[in-house]
Amino acid sequence: MDGEGRQLGTRTIANTPEGWAEALAWARGKQQQHRRWGIETGGSLGKGFAQFLLAQGEAAVRKVSPQRTAQYRRRGRTQDKTDQADALAIARLLLAEGAHLLSDHRDNLLVDRCTGRLLRPARFSGSQRTRVPGSAHGWSKRPAQPPFDTTISRDEARHVYNTLGTELDRSARYEERARRYALGALDLQPDQRVLQIGVGTGGEHLALARALESGGRSVGLDLSRTMLELTRRTSDTPLCEGDVVALPFAARSFDRLFCAYVLDLLPATDLPRALAEFARVLRPDGRVALVSLTEGTTTVSRLFVAAWKLRFRWNARSLGGCRPLQLLPLLDNTELAVVQREVIVQRGFPSEVVVATPSRAAAGMGSPPRAQY
Ligand SMILES: C[S@@+](CC[C@H](N)C(=O)[O-])C[C@H]1O[C@@H](n2cnc3c(N)ncnc32)[C@H](O)[C@@H]1O
Repeated sequence: MDGEGRQLGTRTIANTPEGWAEALAWARGKQQQHRRWGIETGGSLGKGFAQFLLAQGEAAVRKVSPQRTAQYRRRGRTQDKTDQADALAIARLLLAEGAHLLSDHRDNLLVDRCTGRLLRPARFSGSQRTRVPGSAHGWSKRPAQPPFDTTISRDEARHVYNTLGTELDRSARYEERARRYALGALDLQPDQRVLQIGVGTGGEHLALARALESGGRSVGLDLSRTMLELTRRTSDTPLCEGDVVALPFAARSFDRLFCAYVLDLLPATDLPRALAEFARVLRPDGRVALVSLTEGTTTVSRLFVAAWKLRFRWNARSLGGCRPLQLLPLLDNTELAVVQREVIVQRGFPSEVVVATPSRAAAGMGSPPRAQY
């Protein structure tokens, strides 16, 4: 709505980090100058959006009570309580009472950018600064970085993926391009032995198995029994329940290893162990393709990742425990040498694909006959 109350357009978004990023990009494109956001639901979902907007520098985030929204819906002669009618009602209310609302702190929703906790407006008393524990004077203009080294526990991960089932496939529209690229970069030969870590619902495992002939073989491993059962519906290959940090296979058992969106849900302390396991089970002339959510490289993907991190701090389980990683530096000082690297953005979701081989130190140990698993 412009300053005269003319409607500039409406947009329905999902109340998810992707939706928030989409809304912000859209609003910025429509209106370069002053913007004020009304969030009708001050419940947990509205708080997530509010935190996202604040982190993106949208300083004034205000909560409008449902009663006030209803009042302006009626004034707009809208009887239906649809999301779109509510959004228009809030816009009308801000237009009519903006100045008054700014001085009325009763309904305001302010968010502490450091901890994500909601604060009473009085605690901010007009300041946008954030208290940073440990700093000399206690205040800094920059919020502290959240602890992305930790994530959900193994038990939680097992529970999340056992419960998620085929819902996991909804992520395909963000991830399938990167996965396809990584599968191509594996350069599969029909007689190879291939290990997939984290089979999920089995889509890529089927593609791997199809690329092999009778001389070759694919093996799948996953922490979640539900995921293994789903994969079993389409693949008759060996599948085993296990953990990426302790692979139940002999050294140098595989020619290829494929691992997509698993490392990003491991705590930082487990990442070197997982990579060491990959180097161990690969043959010296083997190859591994890794895929992970990563930091954004475009405006939209940066916004997407900013929203993702906020949501991760708020509820890591709702994101399957995954947070962005930077794979390239992780492979420094491992026995894997990077041969190819690409960042692929699909619908704002950035994925890093890294292809590596066991480095010369590992390869120099000779090439024994293939181990049996
Ligand atoms: C985000 S899903 C990705 C699934 C699949 N690779 C894909 O790209 O769709 C993560 C998968 O890794 C599995 N997983 C999580 N932690 C694991 C661990 N420590 N060891 C092995 N698998 C694990 C989960 O059960 C789940 O199937």
